[in-house]
Amino acid sequence: MQLATVGDDGGARCRTLSLRERHGRALWFTTDQRSEKAMQLERQAGAEACWYDLTSRTQWRFRGRVHFLTPQQHPEDTLRLWRLIDREARARFCGPPPGSLWQPPKSDHYRYLPPTPEDHPAEDFSILVLTADQVDVLELAESPHRHWQYHGEGRGAPTRLVP
Ligand SMILES: Cc1cc2nc3c(=O)[nH]c(=O)nc-3n(C[C@H](O)[C@H](O)[C@H](O)COP(=O)(O)O)c2cc1C
Repeated sequence: MQLATVGDDGGARCRTLSLRERHGRALWFTTDQRSEKAMQLERQAGAEACWYDLTSRTQWRFRGRVHFLTPQQHPEDTLRLWRLIDREARARFCGPPPGSLWQPPKSDHYRYLPPTPEDHPAEDFSILVLTADQVDVLELAESPHRHWQYHGEGRGAPTRLVP
């Protein structure tokens, strides 16, 4: 999915994240607390996630507030998702912060990845939770296209909009 936030200069920022789990209207992603997005979201918790499902030809947009689950406060959930990501992704948490200046490796063993314990999430590992208060669905499979907006818990009837 693409996750959009507002940068410190007020401009838009967007990047791809892998959706790991969905709990009702909450989308769960894994990320590094040292990343720019984590810092931006500490100041401004609003974000929007968007993706297009090619099979059903449907665009989904989730807009809402973000909070983080950390290993210290949520050991069970963070351990479950820590085990879900692959070894290389885990190893990145032992390296320099994402977005920092690239330093050429000192040894020839540049492909060597430090072992990361499976049973102990890295300190900076976290779960980014986006809880939607608005879900926007655009269906392209049928003609005319259909555009729906769900508010709040999403239990009420959606509003139909012009596509
Ligand atoms: C296919 C794909 C999947 C990605 N999945 C994640 C992810 O699950 N979590 C994450 O933090 N970054 C993921 N990234 C990297 C982010 O897009 C981004 O480069 C990184 O998180 C730093 O973003 P930031 O500087 O805006 O914080 C993924 C990138 C791609 C292309």
